[in-house]
Amino acid sequence: MTRHKVIIDADPGVDDAAAILMALASPELDVLGLSIVAGNVSLADTVTNACKLVALSGRGDVPVHAGASGPLVREQVFGKYARIGSFNDELVPAGDIVPAKENAVQFIIRSARAAASIGEQITICAIGPLTNVALALIQHPDVAPGIRQIVSMGGAFTALGHRTPWAEFNIYADPHAAEIVFQSGVPIVLMPLDMTFQALFTAEHFERFQAGGEAGAALYNLFSTFDRSDEKRFGRPGGPIHDATTIAWLIRPELFTSREAFVGVQVSGLTMGYTYADFYKKLDRAANATVVTDVDETGFIDLLIERIARHGDHAAGRKTMGGSHA
Ligand code: RIB
Ligand code: CA
Repeated sequence: MTRHKVIIDADPGVDDAAAILMALASPELDVLGLSIVAGNVSLADTVTNACKLVALSGRGDVPVHAGASGPLVREQVFGKYARIGSFNDELVPAGDIVPAKENAVQFIIRSARAAASIGEQITICAIGPLTNVALALIQHPDVAPGIRQIVSMGGAFTALGHRTPWAEFNIYADPHAAEIVFQSGVPIVLMPLDMTFQALFTAEHFERFQAGGEAGAALYNLFSTFDRSDEKRFGRPGGPIHDATTIAWLIRPELFTSREAFVGVQVSGLTMGYTYADFYKKLDRAANATVVTDVDETGFIDLLIERIARHGDHAAGRKTMGGSHA
């Protein structure tokens, strides 16, 4: 099994929670650490939420690094669920994990350089606004060779936006950072709303999270409390868990379909955050991204549920986390 060295850059966030817990239970991923950014909620709250999730997973070996508290240029906006703030203790119990002293951007730079120094590369799994990643790339462009790919949940190409009629939230929250990342030359894999909207999780799926011990129970609490279904928009019950698609793609890429395209983003004006993909090569620009267009809904849902259940095995002593099995 090839293991990906991964930094998860996140703004937890309910769907980030699913992605982080899924990653921390997946032996295919060597999670070097979490780099945290403001997005869904403030940086203070995303850091608190990340620490709670690492504590719940029993993976105290995975450091949490605080990063950017706001976007590069535009005024700050928060997610639709900004009212969540930090996950309250009844939903997600407090733990004993505190953030590392090293800033997230420094952590990304140091990790990429360290990987390159031994002929390896890291994968950045970016599931929040791209501010930390952009800062690492502009402060030290020499880190690019140490980054194999940036797998980012973001953008909307054939789907309409959901934070504005034209923009997906992660890109909308920091379009300048997205532009820097798209133009960096680092291989980009984008998971847009076009695809994440294809896999809808229902109350029956959330029930199955409960096989995952305390971590699964917390995830059940979060998804049951903050209903993300939208039958008017999706035409059927359920709601997406956007961020977990990035983890699933790393573990089981065969569940996904993708195509190469030149992608760009609007960084100003009314349609700030609008993303476009030149699928039909009208712009005569070389492709700079792999755009994931489709997902096997059942396969993805079952994979997420199965990985969350491993937290229950861990709690019962049947498996150890972090990639080795008892
Ligand atoms: O548009 C969905 C994205 O915005 C997800 O990453 C969600 O957590 C929010 O950050
Ligand atoms: Ca997120």
